[in-house]
Amino acid sequence: MPDSTPGLEVRNLTKRFGKIVAVNDVSFDIQSGEFFSLLGPSGSGKTTMLRMIGGLETPDAGEIVLEGERITFLPPEKRDVNIVFQNYALFPHLNVFDNVAFGPRRRKWPEDKIRKEVTKLLEMVHLRGYEEKYPRQLSGGEKQRVALIRALILKPKLLLLDEPLGALDLKIRQALQLELANIQYEVGITFIYVTHDQSEALTMADRIAVMNKGRILQIGTPKEIYEHPSDRFVANFIGNTNLFEGVVKKVNGEDVRVDVPGLMELWGIASEKYAAQLRPSVRVAVSVRPEKMRISRNKPEKPGYNLVQGVVEDVIYLGVSTEFLVKLPNGQMVRVFAQNISQENELWTITWDEPVWVYWRPHRSLVLAGEEKES
Ligand SMILES: Nc1ncnc2c1ncn2[C@@H]1O[C@H](COP(=O)(O)OP(=O)(O)OP(=O)(O)O)[C@@H](O)[C@H]1O
Ligand SMILES: [Mg+2]
Repeated sequence: MPDSTPGLEVRNLTKRFGKIVAVNDVSFDIQSGEFFSLLGPSGSGKTTMLRMIGGLETPDAGEIVLEGERITFLPPEKRDVNIVFQNYALFPHLNVFDNVAFGPRRRKWPEDKIRKEVTKLLEMVHLRGYEEKYPRQLSGGEKQRVALIRALILKPKLLLLDEPLGALDLKIRQALQLELANIQYEVGITFIYVTHDQSEALTMADRIAVMNKGRILQIGTPKEIYEHPSDRFVANFIGNTNLFEGVVKKVNGEDVRVDVPGLMELWGIASEKYAAQLRPSVRVAVSVRPEKMRISRNKPEKPGYNLVQGVVEDVIYLGVSTEFLVKLPNGQMVRVFAQNISQENELWTITWDEPVWVYWRPHRSLVLAGEEKES
């Protein structure tokens, strides 16, 4: 795990392309040895951020500090940083060995040291015996493993990866996700991993920064981001969620009573900071994860729970769990996940068009800002 030295500090970084603000006043710190992921939809500024850290793009404002050294305007070859892109970028006329040995040869490493290091790294990515093959003879996954060790051999302080597995199909991608996380742990180099795939970020990263429209909305561990999203964009982008639009009726510390017009009144919780800003009649959104909701044919005896009636629209059996789509009286659909624990359970018999009750504990409802912030 990371020690206390900040590996990388990014301060108020901004980049414009004409009228587009691709990265908008962004600040964050990364610890040495951390696996950090930048996660966001297409166009949110991830690649632009990475290119500024790598020296391929000049910021309009702000600073980048790598292990105490200000590198904001250094050319790429003067920073101890390397980049792996989505599309391999191996030298087609060099075989695997020579591709990996390219950097060390330019640095005039002795040939026996090169052979030793290249062999060690090929072993690490299970490519011993591939030394003489050319890139055109490799699969996508193999090419990307070569690109990775070629970027690692000079032991940069920081490795930037821009959707490195994006071009691979699902099975290979999942296998390489685990391999990559292990390699990062082994070599101990700080990684910044860009992806728009939330499951990839959740699987691999120590911490995730969620980006949208050039800004970072939240930074946290996968668990923090999933369990305590800071706003509705994050709640929606990471995993599935059910959102209820409503207005505040009452605030009691962090407990908030919300009226969802035409549907129900419910209790939820807000973060301490957000609760302090809430007053009756403020518009909010309430987020409830599908696995936190329960479903039942008969009205449950659960005093204090949030409770609403609906009709089952769809039942999807998923092996470990079943997903129910329930239509509520206001026309809204909610998604409920139930674990398939026992065949004696009434869940096995609930089916299409049945009236059901959906209920959940108040502290499973997160009260978030009602409208997306304008950027
Ligand atoms: N060289 C450029 N010239 C003009 N506009 C650019 C340039 N590079 C990026 N942009 C714009 O900046 C914004 C951010 O782009 P960026 O490539 O950083 O997004 P991204 O998060 O990496 O998206 P994706 O997931 O699609 O790769 C977009 O609106 C994009 O059109
Ligand atoms: Mg990109």
